[in-house]
Amino acid sequence: MLDRYINLLKSGEVVAFPTETVYGLGADAKNPDAVKKIFEIKGRPSDNPLIVHISDKKQAKYFALEISDDAHKLMDAFWPGPLTLIFKKKPQVLDIITAGLDTIALRWPKHPLSQQLIALAGPVVAPSANSSGKPSPTKAEHVKEDFGDDFPVVNAGETEIGLESTVLDITSEPYTIYRPGAVSADEISRIVDKDVIQDSGSSKDETAKSPGTKYSHYSPEAKVQWISSGDTTFIDEALYLLHSRPAPRKSDRVIHYEGNFNKMAHELYDRFRHADHQNLEFVFVEPFSSEQLQNPIVQALQNRISKALG
Ligand code: TXA
Ligand code: MG
Repeated sequence: MLDRYINLLKSGEVVAFPTETVYGLGADAKNPDAVKKIFEIKGRPSDNPLIVHISDKKQAKYFALEISDDAHKLMDAFWPGPLTLIFKKKPQVLDIITAGLDTIALRWPKHPLSQQLIALAGPVVAPSANSSGKPSPTKAEHVKEDFGDDFPVVNAGETEIGLESTVLDITSEPYTIYRPGAVSADEISRIVDKDVIQDSGSSKDETAKSPGTKYSHYSPEAKVQWISSGDTTFIDEALYLLHSRPAPRKSDRVIHYEGNFNKMAHELYDRFRHADHQNLEFVFVEPFSSEQLQNPIVQALQNRISKALG
């Protein structure tokens, strides 16, 4: 089933494929012309570096200058899975991948189809398979929405987690999370027995350490807003995403997650896109309490929703 996609990758073409987080847009990580196509197709700023996806630990050696004891511990604990690690890069790594930085982001995704694809086609760079600025795709249909019906997508239905991987910089201490995801600071901290800090990048600064964090992201056309605490009015031209407060009425515009934050993460980007299909003006989201924010997936939700606010 994967033959066609493997051949496309080997011949320098771009292919979308599922991971456990979101769909990725893959290209051969050793072919500069193929990598260039990724930036063109997505309309991605050239100063925003890409994650190289690998399918075993050994492949990391081609890209990472040095793999520390802590790096090994983290790879053993969380790979394959939704953790991207940033290493100092080897000189042979293509500059176009790293946007001129001296570091490289690596991830071993868990989805079996992504693993097979990479094992047979070699390491691939893979940003989320959306046009720049759109919500990341969690279904093959989302990829086709952005890149056309004929775009090659390995279709495996909905992705499991629905939000992108945790991005962790281990090139200097304290280790720093640039993008929160399903793997939490606490879990990482326990494995390496060191403090881990969050820098999920409110910085719009040109020198942001993780360039992706300075761009607006994940936004639907509809304006995303937090529901203010005293607000009990519900308007028609809006989608409501609730998790705890009572729902005012049954409606397909009022989605209640009943405290199931994994489900909320799984569906968030699809709900954003759906709001646009219905030409809704707003997406209103119930804010999270500080207690709920102890949950890593809620931290990731908070981060993505904050970046989508309009
Ligand atoms: O879950 C994911 O990570 C998905 C799936 C497809 O694997 N990929 C993904 O890639 O979200 P992308 O390109 O949409 O986001 C990668 C993030 C960006 O914010 C980028 O700036 C950051 O990782 N990044 C990549 N390389 C970096 C580096 N060397 N230093 C700092 N940040 C880096
Ligand atoms: Mg992305």
